[in-house]
Amino acid sequence: MINAKDIDIRYLRFLRSWKNLTTKELAFKLGSEKTLIDALEDGEEVDFPNSLLNEISRFYDVDEEGLLLKSNINNREPLFLRDNEDDIKDKIVDSEKVKQQRMAMNLSQTKLSELSGLTLSTIKNVETERTNLTEENAKILASYFGIDIKKLYKTKKRNTVVIAFHNNKGGSGKTSLSVNVAATLSEIYNKRVLFIDTDGQRNASEFFDHRAYHYPMNFYTSFVEGIDVRECIQPTRFKNIDVVYSSYEIGKINGGILQGLSHKEQRFSMISKSLIEQGAYDYVIVDFSPALDAFNYSLLNGCDELIVPVTPHRHAYQAIGEMIQEVSSVNQFTDRLNILGLIYTNHHATKQVSGITYDLIKTNYNDLFIPPFIRQDAAMEKASYLFQAVCEYQKDSKAQKDLNEICKNIINRIESRSK
Ligand SMILES: Nc1ncnc2c1ncn2[C@@H]1O[C@H](COP(=O)(O)OP(=O)(O)OP(=O)(O)O)[C@@H](O)[C@H]1O
Ligand SMILES: [Mg+2]
Repeated sequence: MINAKDIDIRYLRFLRSWKNLTTKELAFKLGSEKTLIDALEDGEEVDFPNSLLNEISRFYDVDEEGLLLKSNINNREPLFLRDNEDDIKDKIVDSEKVKQQRMAMNLSQTKLSELSGLTLSTIKNVETERTNLTEENAKILASYFGIDIKKLYKTKKRNTVVIAFHNNKGGSGKTSLSVNVAATLSEIYNKRVLFIDTDGQRNASEFFDHRAYHYPMNFYTSFVEGIDVRECIQPTRFKNIDVVYSSYEIGKINGGILQGLSHKEQRFSMISKSLIEQGAYDYVIVDFSPALDAFNYSLLNGCDELIVPVTPHRHAYQAIGEMIQEVSSVNQFTDRLNILGLIYTNHHATKQVSGITYDLIKTNYNDLFIPPFIRQDAAMEKASYLFQAVCEYQKDSKAQKDLNEICKNIINRIESRSK
């Protein structure tokens, strides 16, 4: 027997809508009861026969073990659906939530005051947003309602900044840097990150989950088919990182598909606008494929900041100039994209090419250089081989120390912009 709480319900609902079926039609196709499918999709804690799950996975042609059943990761909701787990200091009690709780318990304000022990004026004031509750009173009210105190507070809206990691030279460190910056921002600096993999190679997707290519809701479905990006967001093993996986189909975008798309330049702008309006993340980190093409151009239109990773290689260095030109070209229409800076990675102190590249960067692009460089480190290579972040593999490694400094500088640069 299986229980609906063990099922990945979002995925199950998605599969049905993907096939354009109602629960009644699905039940009919499976020779099952509509009420059973409804109960399963509603997450009711009822036992269902294993054969039902087998039939569903056979019908949708998906791997039952890996996808319909929850893994430890997708046991979690994505961050934007989770309660705000931050400290409640400086936050405001949500008057609507207080009112809803009181109404649900069928209480007048006077009755709630009598039963909870809070004064009537305290309750009136919080419901009209005249004054905030003290933490002590919020505790009393939450415990009277029987809910977690955090549920009483308004979710903090974050100033979401969309950062592109782009350099048209292949192998210039985009993926290893973007995933490690995401991990460092979340694990070390407690920031909330959404990672979007837009590269059909799916290297970053595999870093987050080696089964990533199975997910039918991904960046392609959002960009090309116009599905709400929030439907495509998946939680990850990192508490503060969600991801939108890439798909091999992205490789097809530059062909006929992009030509056929209306408003192609604005597609990613619309996606990023919806994420910014929601304000659930501090940073949206976008990993690019190595090309200066129409698809990447359209993506840059929806980004606020650009980070150019550079490895000790002549072509990776030369591409900096091309990226600067690309930004000017994007800004002819949007004037939104800033160059946050360039990050020099995989630097080896005694290798001549490393020294030359570093000198060139310091001489020609010193104002863009985000210090320090990331030293070449076997820990970085091993971590990447094991699909791990360096902070997971070896927190005290050289590369992680450099990453900590770099992320501090990224945060400072962005914060100083908004002042
Ligand atoms: N500091 C470092 N120490 C050791 N190895 C490093 C360091 N920085 C990057 N690398 C290695 O350099 C390579 C860079 O590849 P990466 O996949 O990150 O580049 P990319 O720009 O994403 O490539 P593509 O253009 O194909 O998407 C990786 O193998 C990575 O492990
Ligand atoms: Mg890459």
